Amino acid sequence: MSVAPRPVGAAAARLVLAIETSCDDTSVAVLERGSRLRSHLIATQDVHRLYGGVVPELASRAHLELLPPLVSRALEEAGVAPGELSAIAVTRAPGLVGSLVVGVAFAKAYALGLGAPVVGVNHIEAHLHATTLEHGDSPFPAVALVVSGGHTELVEVRGFGLYRWLGSTLDDAAGEAYDKVAKLLGLGFPGGPAIERRARDGRRDAFAFPRPMLDRPGFDFSFSGLKTAVLTVVNRFTPPYGDAFVADVAASFQAAVVETLCARTLRALEATGARALNMGGGVACNGELRERLGAVCDSRGIAFRVPSPRLCADNAAMIALVGAWMLERGDTTNLDLDAAASLEESGLPLLND
Ligand code: KG4
Ligand code: ZN
Repeated sequence: MSVAPRPVGAAAARLVLAIETSCDDTSVAVLERGSRLRSHLIATQDVHRLYGGVVPELASRAHLELLPPLVSRALEEAGVAPGELSAIAVTRAPGLVGSLVVGVAFAKAYALGLGAPVVGVNHIEAHLHATTLEHGDSPFPAVALVVSGGHTELVEVRGFGLYRWLGSTLDDAAGEAYDKVAKLLGLGFPGGPAIERRARDGRRDAFAFPRPMLDRPGFDFSFSGLKTAVLTVVNRFTPPYGDAFVADVAASFQAAVVETLCARTLRALEATGARALNMGGGVACNGELRERLGAVCDSRGIAFRVPSPRLCADNAAMIALVGAWMLERGDTTNLDLDAAASLEESGLPLLND
């Protein structure tokens, strides 16, 4: 019996099945030649709404149940037989380790069964480039702002694999602050969309919440002080809170977050001479943030590239894209691939200058 040679380089990137299970969304995509999305499915795990936040153990179990049927369905929608796949890409870091392990174990077993290569993708690196799926290749240098429930990252991107980390949050991520404030106001989980909705009827200047870190040099963020300031205001009253009060808190909180993100991002754009701003992460769905950052970029002739909501949030399409680029670059792929929880141990090479 002859064994087909394992595809490498461009051949491996021809038809990639990608798997994303880093947090509470199970997602699968099939991407052809790094640009044509043949199918893309995202199964959101509603169970976490019951607990007001992501419960890691429940997320892993839900991934286990959802992933196999989702893979079958994604292949069906793409019109692709498993044997036609040229490679498997999977999120390997960072994220909830129990959730990552489910995707990584599945990807390795599936790849082994097909005799196809498997490549482990960094989730944050994928967010940095997600916008390319809709807007085409980015001009460089670019600044990427990734704002999600787990991350607030400002990165200078000089090309694929060429990253200089500018800043991160020192405590809560932007999305985490949204979720915690929504919980305080009794708005449920996830908090971002609920706060944005309520903020439309509120006054942005009703409460003078702090704009954390703006008086400090550098590009880091901090949102826990803002959360405490909101808590102090909310604790002056007893629930249930009136609609007008909730709207005012939501609008004033959102104004503080958006202004902070805009000021830091503008500083990063100016410091790097960026030609583009690439956004990613669930908070990038926020209308006020998109509008204000769009205006900042427009007035300076900087390309503003923000994906549609589906590609802002956790999704396998962006994993397929970066996986395809890695395969094209000839990255070695092997079955001792392992999951890693933190960005620090995720092995992303960084520029220091
Ligand atoms: O990227 P994502 O789907 O998952 C990860 O956290 O990795 O982001 C989810 C986060 C949640 O914290 C959610 O509240 C926030 O994104 N979010 C928003 C909006 N939509 C989602 N935050 C502000 N405004 C929104 N419209
Ligand atoms: Zn994410």
